[in-house]
Amino acid sequence: MMDQYAVVGNPIAHSKSPKIHALFAKETGQVMDYTAIQAPLDEFFGVVAAFFEHGGKGLNVTVPFKEQAWQIAERRSSAAEKAGAVNTLWRDNDGVLWGGNTDGPGLVRDITTNLNYSLKRKRILVLGAGGAVRGVLQPILETQPAAVIIANRTRRKADDLATLFAGQGPVEAVDFSELGGDFDVVINGTSASLEGDVPPISPDCVKGASLVYDMMYAPQGTAFLHWAEAQGAARGADGLGMLVEQAAEAFFIWRGVRPQTAPVLDALRSFTL
Ligand code: ATR
Repeated sequence: MMDQYAVVGNPIAHSKSPKIHALFAKETGQVMDYTAIQAPLDEFFGVVAAFFEHGGKGLNVTVPFKEQAWQIAERRSSAAEKAGAVNTLWRDNDGVLWGGNTDGPGLVRDITTNLNYSLKRKRILVLGAGGAVRGVLQPILETQPAAVIIANRTRRKADDLATLFAGQGPVEAVDFSELGGDFDVVINGTSASLEGDVPPISPDCVKGASLVYDMMYAPQGTAFLHWAEAQGAARGADGLGMLVEQAAEAFFIWRGVRPQTAPVLDALRSFTL
């Protein structure tokens, strides 16, 4: 039987992960099978246990199960530990179930390698303070930015994240209303774009930035990127590159081979046009 992998989420029908991993497998000559599993909302633990009991090799985990995946992992990478969320599960040779989080490395690799933009010494505004932002803060801080400013609709959650990551680098929390124009990079980690909504921040935040990034992805562009472009932002990027890069990191954990991501990103872009 081929080595079995899957992504688990709910909903999962529109996941691009099976296509991405199939392209990686073809490119690297790895013989493996990767499917999508929709777990009922209250049955995530059972679905994961059954998958590995039947010989499954590795899982990706997506919304809304990343926190539960953190719980079920017997051991976790240090980044996943701090992120409070796991998006990649695998068993080691002793049968221990490991949890990793490749979202943050995926985001950083997309920005620094694919977009060729260094975060070092940059002032970075991060919008949102939910699970998605928590998952990427440590890798962002590891790039040695000048400052990471977290702003969130619910201020307390931004304060909590700033406190949690205070030992990892220069991080602080502010209100949306306090934000001025002094940023190099603006990263939208809110889910506002899902509702076609944009966080209520000053246009100056994106006007002066040299990169505006939305962790979300939508074939027609996200509400946030459309808004930023209308304010005169210099450069925008959506989260498709992050999606491909987090998949590549997971593939590397499982298979020990690092796939080329550029051809896969090109294929996905042209596929969705
Ligand atoms: P995720 O896993 O995507 O991070 P989450 O933990 O529910 O999901 O967090 C969603 C984030 O998007 C939060 O920061 C949320 O702000 P609140 O903490 O105030 O709820 C933010 N968000 C969602 N809809 C938003 C909107 N319309 N405007 C601004 N922020 C929004």
